Amino acid sequence: MAVPLFASSLEPHHDALAERLEAVARSGRYILGPEVAAFEEEFASYLGVRHCVGVANGTDALTIALRALGVQPGDEVVLPSFTFYATAEAAVNAGAVPVFCDVDPATGCVTRETVERVVTPRTRAIVPVHLFGNVAPVDDLAELGLPVLEDSAQAAGAARGGRRAGALGDAGTFSFFPSKNLPCLGDGGAIVTDSDDVADRARRLRFHGSADKETFDEVGYNSRLDELQAAALRVLLPELDGWTEARRAAASAYVSQGLGDVPGLELPQPVPGSDPAYHLYVTRHEQAETLVGALAARGIGARGFYRLPAHLQPAMERFGGDSLDLPGTAELARTNLALPMGTQLGEDAIAEVVEACRAAAGAGAEAPAR
Ligand SMILES: Cc1ncc(COP(=O)(O)O)c(C=O)c1O
Repeated sequence: MAVPLFASSLEPHHDALAERLEAVARSGRYILGPEVAAFEEEFASYLGVRHCVGVANGTDALTIALRALGVQPGDEVVLPSFTFYATAEAAVNAGAVPVFCDVDPATGCVTRETVERVVTPRTRAIVPVHLFGNVAPVDDLAELGLPVLEDSAQAAGAARGGRRAGALGDAGTFSFFPSKNLPCLGDGGAIVTDSDDVADRARRLRFHGSADKETFDEVGYNSRLDELQAAALRVLLPELDGWTEARRAAASAYVSQGLGDVPGLELPQPVPGSDPAYHLYVTRHEQAETLVGALAARGIGARGFYRLPAHLQPAMERFGGDSLDLPGTAELARTNLALPMGTQLGEDAIAEVVEACRAAAGAGAEAPAR
């Protein structure tokens, strides 16, 4: 039985989406109209924050949020290297210097200790990434007394201490890229915050640095969530909690079906106190690529993420490089192995993945270690 890596489908929602998209197409309102305003209110209310500002994608959300939080050219921003590259790119595009910190390989997230190690008097913000839907310990980081911007691109639906990811720090950002836990039908993103000032500034920055479309106070961006995407998000937001429960059930089924007994395979650990949303189910194995090949041969989607972490990417040479000592990052980059996850992953598919991992790890154990 074939099992895709991303086991989710919007098929059951196609009719509702088509109806809403047609209504927007007929309305003649395409940019910053009623759908965006309504989605911003609904998503803010879902998260329990005062403001949501829709923007064009999750990368712009980070750049704009950093500037809205007061990050100035040359300021240092602490962020993990083990993340999608956009987290670091956004800091550079905001004029900041990305300072890479390590992660705990068991959780994929930064800790207070890994952040504290690289904080300097020039640090102006901390950007924890809620990686793979896990939730970084934002409360511990806040004790460092610096603004915390949560990169929640992978964590819609996740929670910590009864509060939603994205609503824990000074501001949070989301991506609604189609593979994300809360998807739209193209690119989309949002900034969320309780601060009136941060929200006002983000609203200006997404519209060329202008509040009234006449006076341009600062150089900003053309970066809006559009009406069609907002309409799609309004159809899908009510599904998010059910989808998150389905992802959590799949993660539990991996455990109950014995994935943890596969030789050499480490299962993902929630950050203590966090309730992950399992955007991806990322295990670790010393021979991860051997397993990817063996699983692919059985029609099972699996892959490693961020094998070349952000601090080693050519474009980050000025800020990173291999002199940085990030052992947790190196370990996770080498060993991570994402297995199928999604809202439509049945027990039989999970059994198939567990059995395939067992067979592959058994065979792989005889192969020479890399
Ligand atoms: C952790 C993280 N940050 C930022 C982004 C950027 O989001 P987008 O692709 O919407 O620009 C992504 C997603 O792709 C991501 O996974």
